[in-house]
Amino acid sequence: MVGITTNVGERARVVALREEGVEINEIAARVGRGRATVIRILGASRRLGDNQVPPPKPRLGGKKNTSKMTDTLIRRSVIKNPFVTSIEIKKEYPELLKDVSERTVRHRLHHDLNLRAHRAARKPTLTKAMKRKRLEFCARYKEWTPDQWKKGTMVGCSIVSVHNSCRYWDKPDHFQPERWLDENNKFTSKKEGFIPFSIGKRQCAGESLARMELLIFTTALFQSLNFSIPPGNTLSLEVNPGDAFFSLPIRQDLIVTIRK
Ligand code: HEM
Repeated sequence: MVGITTNVGERARVVALREEGVEINEIAARVGRGRATVIRILGASRRLGDNQVPPPKPRLGGKKNTSKMTDTLIRRSVIKNPFVTSIEIKKEYPELLKDVSERTVRHRLHHDLNLRAHRAARKPTLTKAMKRKRLEFCARYKEWTPDQWKKGTMVGCSIVSVHNSCRYWDKPDHFQPERWLDENNKFTSKKEGFIPFSIGKRQCAGESLARMELLIFTTALFQSLNFSIPPGNTLSLEVNPGDAFFSLPIRQDLIVTIRK
């Protein structure tokens, strides 16, 4: 009989719920798995001790012909370009994936990495012609004064472009928390290129309230929970190229446990 495979997120949830004292039947209902699967996960966790999340069940069938590194590369390709095909991924890494079939690449993406194929409802990015037209428009009107702009003209600011601009940020795509320290090593969020609430007359009217809420909300989260990356996984900080105006989060696995 082929065993039920659960992903690391489900296993972590089972362990966390049990730690909170939730009954087995209730856990099974909440994670959408059978009672037997929940008992198996809890048994494995008990054997490991310290409420650890058990590793995946040993795989049945043939030897896995991709490694953690190739899985990460496959995942990265898709995050970089959500429209990439399995054939293109194979071509991107001819040496590393030479013994891996396109079917296996698809399998990794669908089943193991939970990245399902879907058709984008809208065109993701601007076409070349659209970009050219916008640039021509900007060049034509760049000398105009505020008075020359007609009342009612809609003006928007691309926050994502500013936040990813090398003009304001050294390596904008790198995780560098220290960039938020001033010369006295004190935290500062005042930076010329940091405009999450936009700028100008129509900037966010709720900025001070939002800043307070964010502080309280994130402090409460980090005070009561621990966040960690599942073993063997990496977190991606890549920006989804489909998000022209917003930096929407991409789906990633994370283990959240209650802080003792
Ligand atoms: C993290 C939280 C928030 C972020 C990142 C945010 C960001 C923004 C941005 C980028 C704009 C657009 C400005 C523009 O048109 O250029 C905006 C507008 C606005 N926001 Fe927020 N906002 C947040 C929370 C809030 C909250 C909590 C409130 C109210 C309680 C609020 C009220 C408004 C209002 C009324 C506008 C329209 C301002 C206008 O057009 O004059 N926002 N916000």
